Amino acid sequence: MASNSKSTEKDTGIPRHIAFIMDGNGRWAEKRGLPRHKGHEAGVKNIRPLIKYLGKRGVEYITLYAFSTENWNRPEDEVNGLFHLLEEVIEEESRELHKNNVRICHIGSLKGISASLKQSINKALNLTKNNTGLTVGVAFNYGGRAEIVEAVRRIVIDEVKPRSINENLFGEYLYTAGFPEVDMVIRTGGEFRTSNFLIWQAAYSEYYFTPVQWPDFNEECVKKALSTYSQRQRRFGGL
Ligand code: IPE
Ligand code: IPE
Ligand code: MG
Repeated sequence: MASNSKSTEKDTGIPRHIAFIMDGNGRWAEKRGLPRHKGHEAGVKNIRPLIKYLGKRGVEYITLYAFSTENWNRPEDEVNGLFHLLEEVIEEESRELHKNNVRICHIGSLKGISASLKQSINKALNLTKNNTGLTVGVAFNYGGRAEIVEAVRRIVIDEVKPRSINENLFGEYLYTAGFPEVDMVIRTGGEFRTSNFLIWQAAYSEYYFTPVQWPDFNEECVKKALSTYSQRQRRFGGL
């Protein structure tokens, strides 16, 4: 059983907070002779059933890596395509999530984001902010190092006394303030790296890497990941 006194999960073997690095959309499309944006479209369609399934399994928090601060390095048309796609799906998906009592949070920065996309994001956040079911954090325009630097900046602005600075306080200055520890990080797409994702919050996460590309990562795949997790022994430095 993946449990330990330091774990944030209840004693069920189910992670309370799962974070997904949804990688492999582009390669999924290229393998089929399709343009990369078709892969992103397929990837987005994959999210709704997974959220539903994980909610049923008792997961309380899901964080999805949708766009990293490093993804600005992609060709302009891909970046614009991704933003356009997000704007398109956000309204429809947030209405559906709202019906299911899901709370949507934004994890990241809105710097450099167009006014209309900002407006759609804020609308979705406002619509769902009082929901009491599953929490879905959308890591959009997110970078772990940028997040830490931003937290330090705000701690300095707030003139926090050096003696008051501890891990809990620091955590409250991160975009994930109020979220429990990340119990598990699942990365699809076959790469073995964190790509600057939740580098503070996932310090003691269980990592699960799979070669399956994100658009193909279905209920069966996530079931297998959960089963692997339940067999991990989390020690948090203890015995
Ligand atoms: C992940 O898929 C989605 C984003 C980074 C937005 P990729 O676009 O990285 O797909 P691959 O890794 O090129 O296959
Ligand atoms: C990580 O995937 C970011 C997201 C899934 C949004 P990348 O495809 O950007 O990661 P690298 O470039 O392979 O590290
Ligand atoms: Mg990738």
